[in-house]
Amino acid sequence: GVRQRASTGSLPGRERVAELLREAHERYAPMRDGVVADYIPVLARADPDRFGLSLIGVDGATSEVGAAGDPFTIQSISKAFVFALVCEAIGHHAVHERVGVNNTGLPFNSVMALELNLGSPMNPMVNAGAIATTAMMPAESHDERWEAIRGGLSRFAGRELAVDVEVYESEMRTNTRNRAIARLLEGYGRLERDPAAIVDMYTRQCALTVTAHDLAVMGATLADGGVNPVTGVRVVAEEVARDTLTVLASCGMYERSGEWLFEIGLPAKSGVSGGIVAISPGKGALGSFSPPLDPAGNSVRGQRACAFLSRALGLNLF
Ligand code: DON
Repeated sequence: GVRQRASTGSLPGRERVAELLREAHERYAPMRDGVVADYIPVLARADPDRFGLSLIGVDGATSEVGAAGDPFTIQSISKAFVFALVCEAIGHHAVHERVGVNNTGLPFNSVMALELNLGSPMNPMVNAGAIATTAMMPAESHDERWEAIRGGLSRFAGRELAVDVEVYESEMRTNTRNRAIARLLEGYGRLERDPAAIVDMYTRQCALTVTAHDLAVMGATLADGGVNPVTGVRVVAEEVARDTLTVLASCGMYERSGEWLFEIGLPAKSGVSGGIVAISPGKGALGSFSPPLDPAGNSVRGQRACAFLSRALGLNLF
């Protein structure tokens, strides 16, 4: 049992944060549960023992432990930030109307969820909703749309992000399911652009390389009401940061979102390469990297570390 720190207006002091991060790392590094994703062939090569944590406050204060600088592909975590950028560009009403904000209760790549909901992807955090959201980024051309996404995610991270071409190509060879989802969306009149081109762009956005440190900066930008606390640059408006955090609370951890909110009490997003970002509004964000996943596709060590740190640091919203 971890003593629950009362949720107050600020993080504990830096020394205490560093100490708790080290404790979380020591506690969960020995865990051997979970399986590294292999449906994207290249991801199967990830080292299951790598484990890194980064916590960044809204004042930019940074504490890190373990493999916080290891590169990995952002995967589904991109969905949160692309949603924010599209809301910033066209307003959340348009995205709400086309995509929705309710949990599907079904796996992230479910085709059945689309069929059961008459073609509504339900929310921007599942593959169908993310593909629809990427297509809504306004631009004059495909290249301009991609640059709006890559450049926008880079502003969240405070550095220029680049695609891991090997992961992108590996997923493009095997992503038949996402192609089917895009075609189905088109059939339901919810994708007005070329489905193949949009799946290509969505796959690229998922293959952008980040570290646990980058995830913490990106999350801290949302915690800070849209201003990157490291660069000082406003990336999105305050209301967009709020919109994004609400959708993450209900849908960020897929069909496990309710349990996650119950146990950990923070908006968060996971990706199949083992990343998790958890955000404590007004305080900061935790970035975690550990490749072995549970059956819903969420990092096992990352979840345990978030639960421990949420309690010990008093991050929990409730
Ligand atoms: O579309 C996919 O299946 C991957 N590019 C991303 C999925 C993902 O990260 C789900 N996360 N837990």
